[in-house]
Amino acid sequence: MTNTIKHVASPLARQTLLDSSLTNPVAGRKPIRLLPWLQVIKIGGRSIMDRGAEAILPVVEELRKLLPEHRLLILTGAGIRARHLYGVGLDLGLPVGALAPLAASEAGQNGHILASLLASEGVSYVEHPTVANQLAIHLASARAVVGSAFPPYHHHEFPGSRIPTHRADTGAFLVADALGAAGLTIVEDVDGVYDADPARAKDAKLLKEVFAADLAKTEGPLPFDRALLDVMANARNIERVQVVNGLVPGRITAALRGEHVGTIVHTGAGR
Ligand SMILES: Nc1ncnc2c1ncn2[C@@H]1O[C@H](COP(=O)(O)OP(=O)(O)OP(=O)(O)O)[C@@H](O)[C@H]1O
Ligand SMILES: [Mg+2]
Repeated sequence: MTNTIKHVASPLARQTLLDSSLTNPVAGRKPIRLLPWLQVIKIGGRSIMDRGAEAILPVVEELRKLLPEHRLLILTGAGIRARHLYGVGLDLGLPVGALAPLAASEAGQNGHILASLLASEGVSYVEHPTVANQLAIHLASARAVVGSAFPPYHHHEFPGSRIPTHRADTGAFLVADALGAAGLTIVEDVDGVYDADPARAKDAKLLKEVFAADLAKTEGPLPFDRALLDVMANARNIERVQVVNGLVPGRITAALRGEHVGTIVHTGAGR
């Protein structure tokens, strides 16, 4: 009898995927950078978008001037409407998997606002599947696109907390690292990361440079999701992120030119 079964050679065919000593020779290599020229910018929902025209218009002008110099993926956070939504949803007993996609849509609303203001430059808002599959073609025809910074965990959000743990900062970092982007800049309304919340502690000190692993050992509040620190520990491409004050004109531009104008957070990548 002729054996018609064709054997496909695969280095992982006969192995469990759970044993790292077996998978490392195949999976341990550094992934390629898909879009090594891309700059990702996360614009704070609460810190920038909720402030309205006074904060948004100067940021839009700065982004507009950056377009000839950089190709951008601009991602927006959720802000006050998501906080209201969490309040109502938690009061009703909604699970975290029901709240996460709702908060993500609020981040998307901020993205639509920003994209409208940059539309005359060819910039449009794109949904997650487009970021995942068609970002390259969009950036071949426009210098920038805007999306929601929230990761699409949606109904798969981890149930560790009642408020989604993977929010805008984590989402922006995950996509920047996966694409092998040139950099990620997180835009806030403070000069960077302090050793305490500067809105509460008047003597809070600005940390010019810090390791994500050291921040993970602290317990105080941070200007970004704590889950970001876990993701940074296992980063593959993005070695540092800069947190800058978007209310000070020129800071985003300087950060994208590689200047140190906020807090540089070193990740676990490249170590
Ligand atoms: N250690 C810290 N260093 C700096 N700012 C801090 C720190 N802890 C808390 N904050 C506060 O975080 C505020 C920013 O809030 P938050 O990060 O929630 O806004 P956002 O990034 O705009 O929101 P979103 O994630 O919805 O986009 C700052 O104005 C600051 O008062
Ligand atoms: Mg923030």
